[in-house]
Amino acid sequence: MVDYECILLAAGEGQRAALGYNKVLYKINGNKELFSYSLDYFLKDEYCKKIIMVINEKDKLYFLNVFKTLKSNKIDYTIGGDTRGASVYNGLKKIKSEYCIIHDSARPLIYKEDVYNLLNNAEETGGATLATKVYNTTCHIVDGYVDEYFSRHSLASLITPQCFRTSMLNKAYEDANAKGLSFTDDSGIFKACGNSVKLVFTDNISIKATTSYDIKLLEGLLYVSHR
Ligand code: CTP
Ligand code: MG
Repeated sequence: MVDYECILLAAGEGQRAALGYNKVLYKINGNKELFSYSLDYFLKDEYCKKIIMVINEKDKLYFLNVFKTLKSNKIDYTIGGDTRGASVYNGLKKIKSEYCIIHDSARPLIYKEDVYNLLNNAEETGGATLATKVYNTTCHIVDGYVDEYFSRHSLASLITPQCFRTSMLNKAYEDANAKGLSFTDDSGIFKACGNSVKLVFTDNISIKATTSYDIKLLEGLLYVSHR
């Protein structure tokens, strides 16, 4: 297995969660911050050699305190940008390893077997994303009505972590920035540059804390699994 460095994204504002502050700082069950779950994972993973936390300027003092308490030389940080893509690009500037993993810290459920599977696939193809199957009937919408149905067997839901050969992702970002293209994840940018993205399916649950409902759901799951 290859060593890697990780870009851990925490620089959003969490507007849809409507907490009045960045959702990744929310203390799950009054105890551990949302971002800490994935940070702990990458701190423990022996193949992860560095974690670049991408943080919001507004949360800088909070995070500096956290880093001081953790006393880990694996952690570095940078300030994010206005969009998720801009935040990743800032993080990428600090990556020195051949492979990098990008993860949303708003996704606290992260599993070693998935990360290792992802790494092995990215090593073969240059770019890979974790994905889940789609179980609901899915359609395209026009004016509030069903337009056309999609066969869910030919659909996948893309999540993080995602893993890329760093040089290839850098090139993809430079191309996308030059053309003014934007995507909701890094696999989109990687693919737009002509690269193939390998899908690595998982049956493990991945929930991104997007709304306050997601946060409640995660609190229940993390409580039951004693995490
Ligand atoms: N993120 C980031 N920089 C941004 C926007 C998002 O680092 N400019 C991070 C978030 O902190 C989160 C992940 O990207 O961990 C996924 O983004 P999302 O769930 O959309 O979080 P927010 O942008 O914070 O939420 P919202 O869109 O509701 O404001
Ligand atoms: Mg967002």
